[in-house]
Formats: sequence, structure tokens, C-alpha cells
Amino acid sequence: MVVVAILAAGRGTRMKSHLPKVLHFLGGRSLLERVVHSVEPLSPLRRIAIVGYKAEEVKVAMKVIPDLEFVEQAQQLGTGHAIQQLIPHLEGYDGDLLVLNGDVPLLRRETLQNLLETHKQYGNAATILTAQLLNPKGYGRVFCNSLNIVEKIVEDKDCSPDEKQNCRVNAGIYCFRWQDLARILPHLEANNAQKEYYITDAVTQVAPVMAVDVIDSQEILGINNRLQLANAYDILQNRVKEKWMAAGVTMINPSSITIDETVELGSDVIIEPQTHLRGNTTIQAGCRIGPGSLVENSQLGKNVTAQYSVITDSSVQDGTRIGPYAHLRNHVEIAEGCRIGNFVELKNTTLGEGTNVAHLSYLGDTSAGSKVNIGAGTITANYDGVKKHRTIIGDHTGTGSNSVLVAPVNVGNNAYIAAGSTITEDIPDNSLAIARARQVVKTDWQKKLK
Ligand code: UD1
Ligand code: MG
Repeated sequence: MVVVAILAAGRGTRMKSHLPKVLHFLGGRSLLERVVHSVEPLSPLRRIAIVGYKAEEVKVAMKVIPDLEFVEQAQQLGTGHAIQQLIPHLEGYDGDLLVLNGDVPLLRRETLQNLLETHKQYGNAATILTAQLLNPKGYGRVFCNSLNIVEKIVEDKDCSPDEKQNCRVNAGIYCFRWQDLARILPHLEANNAQKEYYITDAVTQVAPVMAVDVIDSQEILGINNRLQLANAYDILQNRVKEKWMAAGVTMINPSSITIDETVELGSDVIIEPQTHLRGNTTIQAGCRIGPGSLVENSQLGKNVTAQYSVITDSSVQDGTRIGPYAHLRNHVEIAEGCRIGNFVELKNTTLGEGTNVAHLSYLGDTSAGSKVNIGAGTITANYDGVKKHRTIIGDHTGTGSNSVLVAPVNVGNNAYIAAGSTITEDIPDNSLAIARARQVVKTDWQKKLK
């Protein structure tokens, strides 16, 4: 039986921000949201966030997580003071309390599970997560005997030069037998460099307390400044990329690529440099995306290619080729085997199988059928200054270069629009529409002029 408490009341002065530290985003989710997610597999009895600095803002932002409880720490007098606020809320509770720092967002579920198991197995009063760091600066140092029993924890700011040499650090993650902790919590003192009540002092006032080293020390990175935030993003990105490379995805120059954790990739997908995959995006087997592309909240079928292109909120079926320099946005649906070429923008548009829009076009609010050929420079004029209107184009139809289709307008199947036409009226099946001034040639005009 475990209750989880997350320390999230601090301002995060070192972030130099108006936003409370725990609301800073890391790869599309706030730090606090990430910490809450990391305890999900433990099925905690309750999850309580201790909030203080801009508490209302934090509560509103955390509405995405149902059942998260909030306890307020009106003044932020330290991590120990924060935990003291739980006393009235956990009266009579007889299980364990897992304490997490709201600014330690990279923990793996296995690490937390292992901490809880060790805690139970040895019947500890407290079990804390530690790491051996090459550069322990900024972290509390943990001193243990040879059996990993914690003797003291000294904050960086309180360390003597000798103590600073100790590279075993406190991750800020603790499992307490709540009854033992509750007994000593009211007696914490603030005799330290920061004049704060430290949770780390409580740790050494119960017994026995055991330290468990994390295997991958990157997991315990605490975010106190923007540099650490950027480093955390790199760590997350490496995890995501390693996972997909192990699953059969090729990445060319991975350090120039970013991939959200929410993205799904098929095997033999090739991601070229400077490509960014975001949100609810799925890319099926054999696609080649990039270089220089952004795909966001979009579904790509098999063997799609996209170079130097931006695809958002759209779906593309198998074998379609996109780019270079195409822009698909706002509910574009493209069937199999299409070709979307250079400098083409598609918005809220559907294309049937095998349709080509190869050069310099804008299609907005358009439905084009299958095997349509949209000539270079074709534009749908979908906006009359007040409203947007649709353009419908039938199967096997072609538009000549530089034609304008003024919506609303319907073009039938197997029709053709002559180059340079401005189409304002519907065109029936199998017809040719020419809507331009007839060419006049004035012979010997130059001679007459002179
Ligand atoms: C803390 C630990 C340190 C550990 C490090 C790991 C203490 C005294 N020190 O230091 O041993 O190595 O984390 O990252 O605990 N908070 C509150 N109320 C407060 C003060 C802080 O809720 O009054 C919250 C903050 O929002 C933050 C967390 O507690 O999420 C940790 O606070 P922070 O000031 O970052 O502590 P560190 O100096 O990093
Ligand atoms: Mg911190």
C-alpha cells in the first residue's frame, strides 16, 4: 500500500521564469505531469501534489490528470516543511509514503519498483534513491556504511570541502514508513545554510534507512535551471531514438532529429537529418522522411516519402511522394500513389488515388478525385472575403497550367481546363473549359509602329 507525494511547491528561482518550475515543458509535457506518469505502474492509493508557488496555476495545468490531489504549502520553508503539510491529510494511514521531487522527471518505472521492493524486503523505515555522479555539484551528498545504511545526508551548500568529494548523491526520491516519519516530522529544525526545513534531515532521524543506487544515473537529473532542462530533453530524445533504432528504424545524423515519445514508427522507416516528428503521428513501414521535414499529428501509410516538407493534422496513404517544399495542413487526406511536388500547399483537401499536384499550386477546401492531374500553378480561390467555399474536381480530370478555380465550383469527371483559365462556372463531365481572352496576333505591328 503506497501513497505518493510529489514536491511541487517551490518557485524554481534558478529557472529565472514567471512560470512555476514544475510547469516547464519537457518534450511536450510538464515536469510535474511526467513525474505523476512515472508512478502510474505502482497503482498508488493516492497521489498528492504539494503545491505553493502559483498553486492555482499549477492546479489548472494539472487538470489533465484526474484524481490528482493537492495539498497547499502556503510558505515554502523547505522540502521537510512541505512534507509536514501532509500530516492532517494522512491521519491514521499505516502504509508507505513515496516522496518524489516534482523537478526530477526522467525516472523509469523499474527504478521506482525496485526502490519499493527493497524497502519492503528489508523492512526499512526509509529507503532512498541515490546515484554515483562524476559531477555531484548541487546535489545533497549521501554517506553510507558498507551495508548501504545511510548515516547522513549533507546538502551541497552545507558540505565541508571534504564532504564535497563524496560522489554519492541524493536523488530526492524516498520511500518512508509513514508512521515513523509522521512521528519525527514535527521536530525538524532549520539549522542549515538555507535556513530551510530539510526532508533529508528527517531521513536520518528514522532507522534503518537504506540507500539504493540507480543503475542509470541520468534518470535522477534534477531540473533547476534551463541548461539542465535542455540536457534532460537530450536524454529523453536518446531514449526514444534508441528504442526506434532497435525496432528497425534508420536515422541519418540522429542528433539533428527530434521525435516525440508519442510517435509510432514502422520498420525500415528512414529518417533523414533535420527532421522532426511530433504529437500523435504514425509513420508506417518503408517511409523515407526528410531531410528537413516536420510531421505533426499525422498518419503516413507505407512507403511514403517527404523531403523538406511540413505535414500537420493530415493523413497520407501508401506510396505517395511529397516535396520537396510541400505544405499539407489542416485535414488533408491523400489516397495511395499521389504526387505532391515543389511549392504546393494543400489545406483541408482530399485527393483520390494516383492524383498529381506536381508544381506551384494551392488547393484549399478541395476534393479532387482519382487520377487527376493538377497543372503547374493551379489555384483554388476558396475565400470570397467572408466565407470559405469548396471546389470539387471529378476523376481523370486535368487542369491546365495557371488556372484559377473560383469556389464554389464543380468540375466533372474526365474534364479538362485550358491553361490560364479562370473558372467561375461548373464544368460537366467530358468537357473542355476555356475561360481566357482569345489571343490576337497583329502581324507586322513593329513595322507599322515605326
Ligand atoms: C533536493 C534535496 C537534495 C537532492 C536534490 C535532488 C533537500 C533539502 N535537498 O535539493 O538532497 O540532491 O533535491 O534533485 O530536499 N519544494 C517544495 N517546497 C519547498 C521547497 C521545495 O515543494 O518549500 C519542492 C520544489 O518545488 C522541488 C523539490 O521540492 O520540486 C526540490 O526542491 P529544490 O529546491 O529543487 O531542492 P534541491 O536544492 O534540488
Ligand atoms: Mg531540485
